[in-house]
This record gives sequence, structure tokens and C-alpha cells, in this order.
Amino acid sequence: MAARRTMEAGFDGVEVHAANGFLLDQFMKDSANVRTDAYGGSPANRCRLLFEVVMAVADVWGASRVGVRLSPTNPSNFVLSDRDPGALFAAALEGLTRLRVSFVDVVEGSSNALPALADLDWARYRACFGGVYIANNGYTKASGQQALRAGRADMVAFGRPYIANPDLVRRFELDAPLNAVVQETLYAKGALGYTDYACIEGPR
Ligand SMILES: Cc1cc2nc3c(=O)[nH]c(=O)nc-3n(C[C@H](O)[C@H](O)[C@H](O)COP(=O)(O)O)c2cc1C
Repeated sequence: MAARRTMEAGFDGVEVHAANGFLLDQFMKDSANVRTDAYGGSPANRCRLLFEVVMAVADVWGASRVGVRLSPTNPSNFVLSDRDPGALFAAALEGLTRLRVSFVDVVEGSSNALPALADLDWARYRACFGGVYIANNGYTKASGQQALRAGRADMVAFGRPYIANPDLVRRFELDAPLNAVVQETLYAKGALGYTDYACIEGPR
């Protein structure tokens, strides 16, 4: 139903959120999933609900309009962990390749103060996936370009730099300096931190 509504609302596609401690990630990580049925146990079983959700969304959109967000080593705010994040990530990528999803959007490492669950060789896992691999977490223009050049990623996603720089693409084009992120307003209520970051002046 939600997938159908996104179509009615005019979206271009759907990214299924299977990262950062939310429901599908809770099924995937063995610190949260202690089930003994077909949805627990092996990495493939723990990915089962993800695959079923992806299939349901792909029934509406077609798999080429469906992507998945993953965070195999991110403890996130929910402090999830897993005994073998690499095996879990590989199982997820293998299944998502089989389902022919368009892209994965991968939070690499840890996005908070806690250490990453494992130090994965991201290039190796990128090779396990047949679609577009979007790398995320802590990238700069330079490190993003390096990842693209090395074939470690097909695209790079930016979070905090975009929050602080509404014109991030233009700044990258111009090699202009970036506004620094103001930590205090990142999760603030109200408009402050959302609408007050400056854009570069002048003609586009
Ligand atoms: C204020 C803020 C809100 C965020 N909200 C979400 C969220 O709702 N869901 C999510 O998966 N990630 C969320 N993130 C994480 C970002 O999408 C991104 O993965 C993270 O910031 C790392 O990328 P970066 O180093 O380019 O910022 C949020 C990050 C920030 C700073």
C-alpha cells in the first residue's frame, strides 16, 4: 500500500530502509533477532523479511525503481551488533542482486561515536552486488571522487555536508569552501539548522 501511494504521489522510485537499527535491520542483526523460525538463524534467514519487502515493493514499481539502504557495520542509535557483519552483508547483497534491485545505499563504518562493528573491505563487498553501489558516510568531495575512480562505488551520497550546504553540488563544481556543520542544530526543533545555512551568492 505504501509503495502504491508513493507512485500516486509522483515519486520516481522507492528506497527501502534496511539500515540504522530500524525494523528490517533489527531482523538482520543477530543481537536483535533471536528467532528460531525461518526469519532467524542464518544470515539468509535474517534477510528474508528484507527480501519479501523488496519483492512487494518491486511488484508495484518494478525492481529497477527500487533501492535498499544498508548499514552492515553501523551500531546506530539503537546499538545493534552482529557476530559476523561481513557474512550478513554478503547475504544481503547476494539476495538483492538476485532480486535485481537498482541500487544499494551503504552507510559504511559507524555514523556515530561508537566504533564500527567490523572493519570491512568495502571494495570486496561492492563486487558482490550487481547493481549501482552508492557509498555513504564521512565522504568529502576528494574521497568520494577517489572511491569513484577506484571503482569502489558508482555514486556517493552526502548527508551532513548537504544539511550545511544547500548548494553542495554547486560548491563542488566551483571547488568552493563548505559551510561547517553546526552540531547543536542537527536535530533541533524549529527552522534553525534547516533554513539558515548560507548559499553562495551570484549568478548560477
Ligand atoms: C540530522 C541527521 C538526520 C539523519 N536522519 C537519518 C534518517 O532518518 N535515516 C537514516 O537512515 N539516516 C539518517 N541520517 C544519517 C545520514 O543519512 C548519513 O548516513 C550520515 O549522516 C552519514 O553521511 P555523512 O557523513 O555524509 O553525513 C541522519 C543524519 C543526520 C546528521
